[in-house]
Amino acid sequence: MQVEQFLAFTRKLFNRKANILLHEPVFIGKEKEYLIDCINSTFVSYAGKYVTEFEEMTAQFTGSKYAVAVVNGTAALQIALLLAGVKPGDEVITQPLTFVATANAISHCGAAPVFIDVDLSTMGMSPEKLEEWCAENSIFSASTNQTINKLTNKPISAIVPMHTFGFPCKIEEIVEIANKYNIPVIEDSAESLGSYYKGKHTGTFGLAGILSYNANKIITAGGGGMIITDCADFAKKAKHLTTTAKLPHRYEFVHDEIAFNYRLTNVNAAIGVAQMEQIDKRLINKRETAAKYHEFFKTVGVKSFSEPENTKANYWLNAILLNNLEERNSFLEYSNNNGVMTRPVWKLLNKLEMYKNCQHGNLENSEWLEERVVSIPSGVRL
Ligand SMILES: Cc1ncc(COP(=O)(O)O)c(C=O)c1O
Repeated sequence: MQVEQFLAFTRKLFNRKANILLHEPVFIGKEKEYLIDCINSTFVSYAGKYVTEFEEMTAQFTGSKYAVAVVNGTAALQIALLLAGVKPGDEVITQPLTFVATANAISHCGAAPVFIDVDLSTMGMSPEKLEEWCAENSIFSASTNQTINKLTNKPISAIVPMHTFGFPCKIEEIVEIANKYNIPVIEDSAESLGSYYKGKHTGTFGLAGILSYNANKIITAGGGGMIITDCADFAKKAKHLTTTAKLPHRYEFVHDEIAFNYRLTNVNAAIGVAQMEQIDKRLINKRETAAKYHEFFKTVGVKSFSEPENTKANYWLNAILLNNLEERNSFLEYSNNNGVMTRPVWKLLNKLEMYKNCQHGNLENSEWLEERVVSIPSGVRL
């Protein structure tokens, strides 16, 4: 494929000559009306109706029993991990091909990530590699009822798979393996609002899942995050821990543990509610974009990612697979120099300075993808 062909196609698709971003936010609903309502009512901070409304809409949309809004996706993941029982000195299994926030949230709990390879088809954690690693490297301690890393002697207290670019990973198999080893699963579904595995929303398979609403996501709240879970006790504790652990009282200030101020503001939630009202429209729009890309890339002989078997993806970010690192780099250079934003997939987390000494399994698929995957403009087309 000539990069020029891709540029011409993308310009036509987005009806724009240049400055075509990867995923810019669009405001086509009642965002302004709800923001003015926040200002008029003076509820611009943590009190106000939009936070609860945003939580209720999210629970209903995802089919999870409870949803707890927080300040961002990273905080959501940190709290979900703490409530899953992750303690300082523990280890948490995740994938190296993910945004750095996944590993940072693990670190914020005082734990260390262990990196397990991804599948080539989903770009999410590979159940086979997970099983292989656990079988070889862990031992079950009946006295503590925990799976222990044989090498470090530390408990493995959670598994965090991620649904890359909104393509669901093989979550059912991952949860099955996790259950066998008695390790809770917290799904990093930051990118997969509107994505389903066998008809069930991503983020609802493990003990809890998290969502992100930063400006590049399928819907934004300006910034924000959500913890989704079916466990009433987990949701109650998540609310308590993210709202300074204040005991409800009309005027007294009594807090019963060291907690966090990870609350989402009413202003952010107001934007989120307005955007959630448009989620179905957005998902249709994004499927259409993906279909057009698939057709184009087929004609030029380039592989583009489509939803894996048994899944429905939100097509948050469309991505293509180039032949090698050299081709990837020249594609990135040329498109970014010519007004069309493209990005490589993340540098593998085990190669970052702060995570380079973390234990990992064989990462051949992640390394292969790192050299070839490019994400391309995927925002909602107006
Ligand atoms: C996979 C993944 N995990 C976590 C996050 C963190 O979300 P936030 O930016 O809202 O903290 C993001 C998005 O930014 C993400 O893409």
